[in-house]
Amino acid sequence: MTGKKSYRDIISASNKPGPIGVFDSGYGGLTILDEIRNELPKYDYLYLGDNARTPYGTRSFDVVYKFTLQCVEFLFSQGCHLVILACNTASAKALRSIQQNDLPNIDPSRRVLGVIRPTVEEVEQLTTSKHIGLFATPGTVLSNSYPLEIQKISPEISVVSEACPMWVPLIENNEHKDEGADYFVKKHVKNLMSKDSEIDTIILGCTHYPLLKDKIEQLLPDSVNVVSQGEIVAKSLADYLRRHPEMDIKCSKNGTTRYLTTENPGKFSSSASIFLDKDIQAENVEVE
Ligand code: DGL
Repeated sequence: MTGKKSYRDIISASNKPGPIGVFDSGYGGLTILDEIRNELPKYDYLYLGDNARTPYGTRSFDVVYKFTLQCVEFLFSQGCHLVILACNTASAKALRSIQQNDLPNIDPSRRVLGVIRPTVEEVEQLTTSKHIGLFATPGTVLSNSYPLEIQKISPEISVVSEACPMWVPLIENNEHKDEGADYFVKKHVKNLMSKDSEIDTIILGCTHYPLLKDKIEQLLPDSVNVVSQGEIVAKSLADYLRRHPEMDIKCSKNGTTRYLTTENPGKFSSSASIFLDKDIQAENVEVE
C-alpha cells in the first residue's frame, strides 16, 4: 500500500457497533456464515472472500499470514470489532500471530477468532475409540494444528490426517457432484482409513468440505461420525458473545449481511448459490 493510507491508519478507536466480519479465502466460509446466521439471526455480518488469491491451502505460512492479516485489517477498517476466520488454513497459519503480535498494535479491544479450537473441543467429546481422522488442505495438515490442539486437551487421542489438495478446486468450480470428483473422494477416504482402522470420528477440517459430506459418508460405515464445522462454530460464537458482553454491545444487530469479494462480484454472486440456498449480490473490494 505504498503512498496510500494503510487499513491500520483507517481503523479508528470508535466503539460504534459494527457487523461481525466473516473471512475465508473464497466461498468455503459461507458454510460457516450460514450456520452462524441460523444461530444468531439478529446480528449484522460482513463476509469477505479473498477469491482473487484463493486457494490458500497450497500456499506457504508467510503468504497465508500476510493475506489473512490484510483481510482482517480491511474488515476492521469497515467497522468490524470481531472477525471470524471461517477458514481452517488461515486459522492454522495466521490466527496465533495475529492474536498475539498484531492485535495489540492494531487495537487491543478488537478480536479475531478461528475455527480449529471449537472443532477440537467438540470432537474430543464425540470420539469413543479415541481415534480421530482429519481431512484438510495441505496447508492445514502441514501446520499440524489439529493434532497439537487435540494433544493439549486430550493427549490420549490419536489423530491421523489426509491432505486433499483437489477438493477445494473441485468445489470452487462446481465440479464436486460429478463422477470426476468421486475418484478424488474415494482415494482420500481410502487413504485415511488405511492409516488407522479404529477411527470413529472424522473432522472435515476445511470449510469447503461440507459440500462433499454426503459422498464421504457413503463410503464409510455408519459407525464413523463425519463432523462439519458450521454448527460447532456458530454455537461457540454464541457462547463467546454471552461470555463477552463488552464485545456483544459492539456488534450491531439489524439482521443484515453484505458480501465482499476481491474477485468478480457477478461470479461470486452466482457461485455463492452452491453454498447458500439463496440469491445474493456481492460487491468487489480491493485488498492489499
Ligand atoms: N476454506 C479454506 C479452509 O477451511 C481453504 C480453502 C483454500 O485452500 O483456500 O481451509
